[in-house]
Amino acid sequence: MAPSSSRLAHEIELHDQKPVLADARAEIERGLSTDPKRLSPKFFYDQRGSALFEAITDLPEYYLTRAELSILRSHGDEIAEAIGDNVCLIEYGSGSSTKTRVLLESCHPSAYVPVDISREYLLHSSRLIAEAYPWLKVCPTCADYTAPFGLPASTDGLTRVAFFPGSSLGNFEPVDAKKFMQGVRKVVGKQGWLLIGVDTKKDESVLNRAYNDPGGVTAEFNRNILRHLNERFGANFDAEAFEHLARYNRLKGRIEMYLVSNSQQDVRVGGATFRFAPGEQLHTENSYKYDLDQFVAIAEATGFRQHEAWFDADDQFMELLLKAS
Ligand code: AVJ
Repeated sequence: MAPSSSRLAHEIELHDQKPVLADARAEIERGLSTDPKRLSPKFFYDQRGSALFEAITDLPEYYLTRAELSILRSHGDEIAEAIGDNVCLIEYGSGSSTKTRVLLESCHPSAYVPVDISREYLLHSSRLIAEAYPWLKVCPTCADYTAPFGLPASTDGLTRVAFFPGSSLGNFEPVDAKKFMQGVRKVVGKQGWLLIGVDTKKDESVLNRAYNDPGGVTAEFNRNILRHLNERFGANFDAEAFEHLARYNRLKGRIEMYLVSNSQQDVRVGGATFRFAPGEQLHTENSYKYDLDQFVAIAEATGFRQHEAWFDADDQFMELLLKAS
């Protein structure tokens, strides 16, 4: 155990941008009022949802995380050399910060700004990072990264490198992915970089397996969105009354996830009531897959140019280092 003095030295400061509860409630009610009903995947991530996602990353079927880690391990030195010294690493959706450790060790940035919507999980992970890397300035920022957010002033003057791993870009509609990348480009500025992990188009059976693990961890992760709404937004979903459905939509190039109502049921959320028909699908997530050319076109349309693109040994996942253009 670390002596308390060093624990004090590792004290970190949370920049809480207070993702607004009222906005979230309105967004949820809007989504449940449309046909088909939908919820934003950002509502997966309360503390239990973040932990369930971590469990997904360990599943044999979920190749994404292992593939990306292997790329970061193999090319960490090249990334370090490209971005140079005096770097502020900004991670969008930091979760457990596992991949970050590989980057921190190869790149030695001066500051690390993990941005996450899940406050408790963010603080917990940030403390572990601060303890493991005493030389690093850690500035956790609790924010919804789908909306603009500020960076701690203490990181001014450093080269900004955004890190957006895991193919989370796939959660956005392509047009919103562009808007998001434009936002990142603004945050990192003319001298900035974006290191981004993107899952590629591939054999559909491989994709379908990755989102339909036989142990049902992904199903629990999917249902957890309902439990989160119950606990945080005063809803009364019976999560067990919804079945997990995930399948690749080839035309759209995306995995789609749904929760399928197993009966007719009325659900209360805040003041409103929503009726689900038997078999009705609640859309909870899209996970778009991109080919290299397709993705580079998006990067070039949003103020970046490709510095490097790396693939894992099985060609399942790509990591791109983009430079502001
Ligand atoms: C965290 C959005 C990248 O889309 O693969 C995993 C979330 N959903 N299994 C993904 C997820 C179902 C994941 N992202």
